[in-house]
Amino acid sequence: MAAPSSSVTIRCATSADTDPLVPVLAEAFFDGPVADWLIPDHDDRRAVYHRYFTLVLRHGLDHGHVDTTADLSAVAIWYPRPEPAPPSTAENQAALEAATGRYAPKFTLLEAMFDVFHPRKPHHHLAYVAVSPAKQGQGVGTALLNRYHQLLDERGMPSYLEASNARNRELYLRLGYRDGEPLRLPVKGPTIWRMWRGPVGADGPPGFPAAETPSPRRSQ
Ligand SMILES: CC(C)(COP(=O)(O)OP(=O)(O)OC[C@H]1O[C@@H](n2cnc3c(N)ncnc32)[C@H](O)[C@@H]1OP(=O)(O)O)[C@@H](O)C(=O)NCCC(=O)NCCS
Repeated sequence: MAAPSSSVTIRCATSADTDPLVPVLAEAFFDGPVADWLIPDHDDRRAVYHRYFTLVLRHGLDHGHVDTTADLSAVAIWYPRPEPAPPSTAENQAALEAATGRYAPKFTLLEAMFDVFHPRKPHHHLAYVAVSPAKQGQGVGTALLNRYHQLLDERGMPSYLEASNARNRELYLRLGYRDGEPLRLPVKGPTIWRMWRGPVGADGPPGFPAAETPSPRRSQ
């Protein structure tokens, strides 16, 4: 396990960072069970992921909060969710279909499943976090998330995410998240771990066990 790197400088991303950050997302998410499920063909995956993560990042910059590092090697896309997100618009769906082409049904299904099982309790949603493959395992992701968690802790605000593989789940457990009921993507698709991180002593949303010790603060 990498120690959180104290030398990582974190700042808010802007639209000027779009070009360097799209490849960070597309390359970091290129491998893994969800990528294999979404787009088995690697050439198609490369092309679609570039368009899809351009859409994802622009949406995050317009409607959420995006953190990056000074060297633009990492990105985290957060959405404050004081109340449930409004349903996706026809315009959003058209943009998703334009970006993902014949793979749109799987992307649409994935997003619909995430929406249905999304907690209703107020929280911030970590929609995406990615570190450039060359920089992974050096504490950058931990530093990036610790910074935002600190702000959430100061406000007593919980957070939620969907972990796409078992190794990431371990990272999030170390950062104070706990498991809810996992999702299984059809048919015989990968498991997605739904995870919640809340203030010490506070109840989680339905389906999440009460917080145990060690508390989120002490586990960082
Ligand atoms: C997950 C991720 C953001 C973590 O950032 P990081 O800087 O590599 O993580 P840190 O160095 O702070 O911590 C390392 C821990 O991250 C987790 N991790 C997950 N995927 C990893 C990877 N490909 N390389 C290194 N660590 C990874 C592990 O728990 C690891 O601990 P371990 O080495 O004991 O197994 C980054 O590895 C990444 O971008 N992975 C691919 C994209 C992804 O899966 N995003 C999250 C979707 S839920």
